[in-house]
Amino acid sequence: MLKTEKHQTLSNYKLGLDFALGLDQNDELSHYRNQFHIPKDKHGNELIYLCGNSLGLQPKQTKSYINQELEDWANLGVEGHTEAKNPWLPYHEFLTESMAKVVGAKPVEVITMNTLTANLHFMMVSFYKPTPKRYKIVIEADAFPSDKYAVESQLRHHGFDDKEGLILWKAREGEELLRYEDLETIMEQHGHEIALLMIGGVNYYTGQFFDLKSITKIGHKYGCKVGFDCAHGAGNVELNLHDSGADFAVWCTYKYLNSGPGSIAGAFVHERYANDKTLNRFTGWWSHNKETRFNMRQEFDQLTGAEGWQLSNPPILSLAAIRASLDIFNEVGISKLNEKSKNLTGYFEFLLKQLGENTIRIITPSNPEERGCQLSIQVRDADKSLHKKLTESGVICDWREPDVIRCAPVPLYNSFQDVYEMVERLKEILN
Ligand SMILES: Cc1ncc(COP(=O)(O)O)c(C=O)c1O
Repeated sequence: MLKTEKHQTLSNYKLGLDFALGLDQNDELSHYRNQFHIPKDKHGNELIYLCGNSLGLQPKQTKSYINQELEDWANLGVEGHTEAKNPWLPYHEFLTESMAKVVGAKPVEVITMNTLTANLHFMMVSFYKPTPKRYKIVIEADAFPSDKYAVESQLRHHGFDDKEGLILWKAREGEELLRYEDLETIMEQHGHEIALLMIGGVNYYTGQFFDLKSITKIGHKYGCKVGFDCAHGAGNVELNLHDSGADFAVWCTYKYLNSGPGSIAGAFVHERYANDKTLNRFTGWWSHNKETRFNMRQEFDQLTGAEGWQLSNPPILSLAAIRASLDIFNEVGISKLNEKSKNLTGYFEFLLKQLGENTIRIITPSNPEERGCQLSIQVRDADKSLHKKLTESGVICDWREPDVIRCAPVPLYNSFQDVYEMVERLKEILN
């Protein structure tokens, strides 16, 4: 059920364009759409962009944030490290508070660095410490392939068999969503052999938003470390990473955090490890105490908190892009976004259901607390050609094999009218 009365229940929605336009008119966040570049077709018409789950749109202010750094580089050269308007040496610190707010963490727990899969490996260096008796890793059966490849390679790296060492949390026959009781069964049977649970915070395929706190609790009960890949959660749902108690989390910023293709990623390490110098980790000069980093020939002195997991000096242009976007998140606040998101996706669900349950199946949970903005849709007897037709009609969403269309109305820049138009075009194609 919906959390607050502010959210519409499915029966509160109505058909027709006027209703969509009315929802847009009453939407206090609607003006944020103007802060984004909305891609257009070759005739100059705005596309219906429902693909923020893959690549978020560009905030209009990103260019000026990046230009500032280009100008300072042009004018100051190396001096920009200390003399730029936003000095590059501490630049990542300008992002820390906003990033911490977005993922529900304390500033000491987050760092913006590297890329997603790289961060996952760095976290596993610290939190996957297998022994001959306890070495298995649990992931979702339909985890994102990169996550699966990463954990398999960690198993091999430590000399274990990557099939035998991997436990898949599977959906039951005829179902897509994962059940917590099945995870509990896995833990009861294999808990003593499991070193790590590595779960997607929001599953990329089904859109199921997991209860991070419960998963962490059950993992810790059996003495396992627990980490989450929040690629589809960061900027989309309220992750509350600190309260979840998770050992670590990683995410990218090019989806809901709108920082541009391949941009820099994020990592969370729980506060309880902030001063832990006993954990294994890979280090570089950026993991070293900032005060003495440039004395160069000193013994290694570990930085406190998640910052201590950095290795290299970070890419400033990419940090500038994520900063431009985080400033918008900071202004709006993740809980307001979430409120709109539930309304927008609820409306989307309502319209899709009008097409008939024989035609459309939504595999994403119907409980708004168990999903973000994405709906994963199966269309009866459809193949990839349906996705092609949708694209040709001006709807940008994505297709995931074997048979799912993922659509993500993003509360920062999508409108209720976008959602209405998408369903109208789908209806036309199906007819
Ligand atoms: C859940 C998930 N994990 C991992 C990745 C891989 O990300 P990267 O190429 O940034 O390492 C993605 C990319 O979309 C993803 O969605």
